[in-house]
Amino acid sequence: MVGASILPPPTFRALLFSFSIFCLLPEHVFAVTRHYKFDIKLQNVTRLCHSKSMVTVNGQFPGPRIVAREGDNLFIKVSYVYNYTIVGQRGTLWWHAHISWLRSIVCGPLIILPKRGVQYPFAKPYKEVPIIFGEWFNVDPEAVISQALQTGGGPNVYDAYTINGLPGPLYNCSTKGLGTNPCPKNQTCQGPNGTKFAASVNNVSFSSPTTALLQAHFFGKSNGVYIPDFPITPIFSFNYTGNPPNNTMVSTGTRLVVLPFNTSVELIMQDTSILGVKSHPLHLHGYNFFVVGQGFGNFDPNKDPEKFNLVDPVERNTVSVPSDGWATIRFLADNPG
Ligand SMILES: *[C@@H]1O[C@H](CO)[C@@H](O)[C@H](O)[C@H]1NC(C)=O
Ligand SMILES: *[C@@H]1O[C@H](CO)[C@@H](O)[C@H](O)[C@H]1NC(C)=O
Ligand SMILES: *[C@@H]1O[C@H](CO)[C@@H](O)[C@H](O)[C@H]1NC(C)=O
Ligand SMILES: *[C@@H]1O[C@H](CO)[C@@H](O)[C@H](O)[C@H]1NC(C)=O
Ligand SMILES: *[C@@H]1O[C@H](CO)[C@@H](O)[C@H](O)[C@H]1NC(C)=O
Ligand SMILES: *[C@@H]1O[C@H](CO)[C@@H](O)[C@H](O)[C@H]1NC(C)=O
Ligand SMILES: *[C@@H]1O[C@H](CO)[C@@H](O)[C@H](O)[C@H]1NC(C)=O
Ligand SMILES: *[C@@H]1O[C@H](CO)[C@@H](O)[C@H](O)[C@H]1NC(C)=O
Ligand SMILES: *[C@@H]1O[C@H](CO)[C@@H](O)[C@H](O)[C@H]1NC(C)=O
Repeated sequence: MVGASILPPPTFRALLFSFSIFCLLPEHVFAVTRHYKFDIKLQNVTRLCHSKSMVTVNGQFPGPRIVAREGDNLFIKVSYVYNYTIVGQRGTLWWHAHISWLRSIVCGPLIILPKRGVQYPFAKPYKEVPIIFGEWFNVDPEAVISQALQTGGGPNVYDAYTINGLPGPLYNCSTKGLGTNPCPKNQTCQGPNGTKFAASVNNVSFSSPTTALLQAHFFGKSNGVYIPDFPITPIFSFNYTGNPPNNTMVSTGTRLVVLPFNTSVELIMQDTSILGVKSHPLHLHGYNFFVVGQGFGNFDPNKDPEKFNLVDPVERNTVSVPSDGWATIRFLADNPG
């Protein structure tokens, strides 16, 4: 205590200062490689008095935390290896599985700190605790989504919301159980009027191809895989947030927009009231984007752009399109993929 209040003479302080700069220099310059090992294995987990065997990373639910600094190299061994350098990203993001609804349980925080010596754009917090919001299903969530896809009904709802994988004390220990597509001939469907619910954008419900899109494009073999004719505006305009059209059928296809490298893209996402309004979080892979505008009702191409924030819009990789409203994002398509 006493020592701390006695300042060294000025020359000594200056020396100390330059010495510490010298010591820190290598860390400014050299990023490190951070190694992680993800062992994918089944683990019994109990919530709401229900035990189930579920897929986990290293037996953890939620999965382990990845912490790195901007510029570091991440070397993550799963059944294959991810080896990449973190550039242009900072903050608390998340990593997640990309198979069906496995993503709802196989996920965890991905914390990217600024480079050593670079300040946060806010005062240093007293403490930082990553919080992951999620949903718990007493049954296997993959069974929930595959049943919904089979029958065309909405997926059964979760049994509890969770914070860091825990439902909290307010739940009982009890169990509970857009557009449309026609019902296939040999099936019973549980969507409206015996149809199947189908999510669509500009009336196109995406069919997953069996050949990876980039692979097909790269080898010049896109015929029969995709058609680059995705409609960039709605084919029929209607009052998107008013009375829904009587015909709720959608078209289906692997239709897409092929963009030249580095195109500036503006995307207006409009919720529709077809089969009920809903707030949809939408996330874009491979990019951050800028949310330049958001509002309720129908996007007005004449008046709303005037209100866009082109000065300091928030940068995100996920945006919630408001129920009965719209959100506009912009990004530079400079990441092939
Ligand atoms: C999970 O529980 C089942 C039934 O109690 C048991 O047979 C199995 O060995 C357990 N699995 C693990 C990974 O602990
Ligand atoms: C990981 O990627 C870096 C940068 O591309 C490369 O130098 C390094 O050799 C790679 N490591 C392995 C084990 O492949
Ligand atoms: C818990 O059970 C009680 C009694 O059955 C019921 O009134 C209450 O709504 C339930 N709470 C939840 C969160 O399910
Ligand atoms: C319906 O028929 C298709 C095509 O013959 C078949 O692939 C599918 O498994 C059948 N579905 C059911 C539920 O029987
Ligand atoms: C319900 O489905 C039947 C049979 O496909 C069709 O004739 C009828 O028009 C549909 N009703 C509505 C309200 O869409
Ligand atoms: C669209 O529908 C909403 C809700 O019924 C209504 O408030 C709004 O005035 C309608 N807009 C237009 C342009 O008709
Ligand atoms: C939908 O059908 C009803 C009843 O047939 C009709 O009154 C209404 O005008 C139709 N709505 C639209 C948007 O076509
Ligand atoms: C969507 O496409 C289906 C099938 O082609 C068509 O019946 C329906 O009218 C279209 N709806 C809108 C709103 O464009
Ligand atoms: C992409 O476009 C931006 C803005 O037009 C430009 O600043 C940048 O240099 C371009 N990048 C490449 C790799 O062409």
